[in-house]
Amino acid sequence: MLLDLFLSLVAFLGHFSLCVWLFNRLHALPWRRIYIKWIGRAILGWGAGLLGVYGLRAAVLGVCVWQGITPDAAEIPWLIYPALCGLVATAAIPMWLIPKLFARIPDSLLANDTTLHDLAKELGQPLIGTGETSLFARIPGNQIFHLAVQHKVLRLPQLPPVLDGLTIAHLSDLHMTGKITREFYDAIVDRTNRLEPELVVITGDIAEKVMCLDWIVPVFSRLKAREGKYFILGNHEMKLPDVGLLRRLMEEAGFVDVGSRAMRVPLRDTEIMIAGSESPWFGTNPSLTPDPCPLTPPFRLLLSHSPDQLPWAKANNFDLMLAGHTHGGQIRLPCIGALISPSMFGFRYAGGLYFEEPTLLHVSRGLCGDHPIRLNCPPELPLLTLVRD
Ligand SMILES: [Fe+2]
Repeated sequence: MLLDLFLSLVAFLGHFSLCVWLFNRLHALPWRRIYIKWIGRAILGWGAGLLGVYGLRAAVLGVCVWQGITPDAAEIPWLIYPALCGLVATAAIPMWLIPKLFARIPDSLLANDTTLHDLAKELGQPLIGTGETSLFARIPGNQIFHLAVQHKVLRLPQLPPVLDGLTIAHLSDLHMTGKITREFYDAIVDRTNRLEPELVVITGDIAEKVMCLDWIVPVFSRLKAREGKYFILGNHEMKLPDVGLLRRLMEEAGFVDVGSRAMRVPLRDTEIMIAGSESPWFGTNPSLTPDPCPLTPPFRLLLSHSPDQLPWAKANNFDLMLAGHTHGGQIRLPCIGALISPSMFGFRYAGGLYFEEPTLLHVSRGLCGDHPIRLNCPPELPLLTLVRD
């Protein structure tokens, strides 16, 4: 009996791992949103449906045994899928557990001071817009309006002395859909301005509904940054019928579009390279060979929507890469952490700081999400201060 329970648990973990693995990789692909949506639903249906079928069968067998009836069911076909899941579990569990056990925060993170702000309470407004938000907002522990302002000090020894102490507000994944009202985004802008960043960057998933395009100029033109404002787009902008309009509105709001581009920009008394990657959804990664800059700038910054571009960033010697897309998992289970993380690397880069020579990667948890739920994973407004030592 105990052995049966143990084998059932292993099979369940394998089944669950397989569904999560497929779901995460599916959402890292550049396919049309409609295909992603329906295949995603099929994976969820398969995951829940098979659990239901096997659960029902276990209940029927239990009743038969209880009634003293020997079940007349062919066992072998029923065991094939759980056996396959058992094999998946024996591979998936160590692959999940071992990196967790050896994971550590990079030495590059010198400080991380966080303050939480309940924006709905501070503004005295529910901030609930259209759709399912009013339902989701009632879920106990939902942190969609609990903004975490995080001051992170990052050590980059190769930083030119003139850039020591540079501050960057890294905004990501605002997901303007109308499900949350415009006041939420105005409050984000106010909070960002209070941080007085030198640079403001946005790493994609800005707006995905036409009705929210009217918000772009009034909201983002109020953002202040002494040394400039830069943006790229993300996968959710694929929902817009004319993505060029959003780009033009962002430029009208004072932002520079670095999607699929690399440019040298003046900063303090020097120049740096800022490049943008919207791969695999829009364009291609910018060509850096031959280097577009006659004299290679001493500091290279990459804005990428997906952390999946880290191998490319490393191969091209970027010093700092800023990304979003994975939302920190949005729902982080105690002791387990993020499970849903739309990346070819699964939840490896779900959120936080990662150093892989020579690139330091910062993945923001983002400010919102397509689905208005966040558990143990508040929206994040990071102010990054870069220091040499
Ligand atoms: Fe996103």
